[in-house]
Formats: sequence, structure tokens, C-alpha cells
Amino acid sequence: MEIIIRPTPEECASIGGRIIANLINGKPNAVLGLATGSTPIPLYSELVRMHKEEGLSFSEVTSFNLDEYIGLSGEHPCSYQFFMNEELFGKIDIKSNSAHIPNGEAQDIQSECLQYEQAIRSSGGIDLQVLGIGSDGHIGFNEPGSSLGSRTRIKTLTGETIEDNARFFDNPDQVPRHCITMGVGTIMDSETVLLFAFGEGKADIISKAVEGPVSAMVPASILQLHPNVKVIVDEAAGSNLANISYYKEVYENKPDWQA
Ligand code: GLP
Repeated sequence: MEIIIRPTPEECASIGGRIIANLINGKPNAVLGLATGSTPIPLYSELVRMHKEEGLSFSEVTSFNLDEYIGLSGEHPCSYQFFMNEELFGKIDIKSNSAHIPNGEAQDIQSECLQYEQAIRSSGGIDLQVLGIGSDGHIGFNEPGSSLGSRTRIKTLTGETIEDNARFFDNPDQVPRHCITMGVGTIMDSETVLLFAFGEGKADIISKAVEGPVSAMVPASILQLHPNVKVIVDEAAGSNLANISYYKEVYENKPDWQA
């Protein structure tokens, strides 16, 4: 794991944007795994800026989002489909049929999940997966206790997640209780993972995920077993890390060939 700690979310987003742009410039038909929540917003703003000002094109890119609430249509302002259209897809040149999000209104949820896995495989697999982290350690919507080998499936949200996400809804009762999420195993199949976290509220879970034991009770901790993960956090989210000064030293003294 490479731990990158920068002063602000914007600086973290600029690093992430550069990594994604390098990938797309080298492989225009790259497959991106995308996340929702408040964390990736600065990254998506940076990608939109790069598209508008630097000509970064997503015209051959395919994307797969991590998750979607069950029961919300794509037009619902709290659906992840709506979020992605607003924050990214509507502002870049990605083809709408190349940007995949699980269908939370599917009649047959199980076959929707199988088809989603199949579509990821048919695309050649995810080159780079963007992740945030829930305060309970979830990635996607893989809540504590999720199988570390799980694939795309239905999950029930924990009380903590419902409470965390209630801020996007008019009241907590409107937060759907179920979702479709890529599994932990699906996420682990990605070539590269960028996990972002910002703010003091994420400091405790980031230290557990990065420096604690690998455990299904902290699903993000499985990333310790992934060969190519960058954890990109602001000072506040990194503030509980025991080895913080070492991570900073590594980042600031990278040999030229690695930088
Ligand atoms: C949501 C999403 C996750 C996201 C997380 C953190 O529930 N399903 O993919 O990483 O919660 O959200 P935020 O970035 O708003 O803190």
C-alpha cells in the first residue's frame, strides 16, 4: 500500500486526476470503477476540468459504478445514477451506454447482479477502481461482516450507514435499506485501487483499514492484500496513522524513476 497524505482534498484530487489521466492517455479504452458519496466530488471536478481544459477524452472509456440503492429510479435525486450524471457523466464525453451502474429498480435483482459481474468480465476487467470508505469501514456498500470473497449482490445497510447517508435525504426514513453493490472480491480483481478519505471523521477508520488487522469487520482492510493500492488522504483523515511520518518521508523522497 502506498499512503499519500496531502494538506487538502483538492491536492488529493489532483494526484488522483493525474493518475487517471495517465491511464487514459496510455489506454484510451480504459475501464474505470467509480464511487459515489461526497469523497469523490473533488476528483470528479478535477476530471471535468482536465476534460475541458486539457482535452482529456473519455469517449472510449467504460465505467462501472460500485453500487446503487434498491428502489430508487435513476431520476431520483438521491440515486447514484443521478449523482453520477450531475457530477461527472453529464460533463464529460463518456458514451452513456459505456457508463454502467447497477439497476436498483431491476425486477430480478439476482440476475441483475450476475449480469453486472458478467459485463465487468466482458469489458476485460477494471483497470482502476476509485473508492471512498464508510465510517464503518465499508467499501462500495460491503458492510462489516461481508465475505471478503463476495461478488455483486444485494446487501442490507447498517444503521450507521443509514445515519451517515441520511444527510442526502429529507429524513432518515427515506434512506433505502437495501442496495446492490459490487462485492469485495469484485473490487479486489481491479488492477489498481485508489482509496480516498477526507476529514477527521474518517481518521479512525483509515487507521484501522491501513494499519489494523485484515478482517471482514473492516472490509476496507482487505486492500492490504491487494498488490497495487494507493490510499490518498488529507491531513485530517491521516491524523490517526501510527506511521504517518514514515509515509510522508516515503512520498517526499521518491526516487525519480518512481515519482
Ligand atoms: C457510501 C457509498 C460508498 C462511499 C461511502 C462514503 O455509502 N456507498 O461508496 O465510499 O458511503 O461516503 P462519503 O464519501 O460521503 O463519506
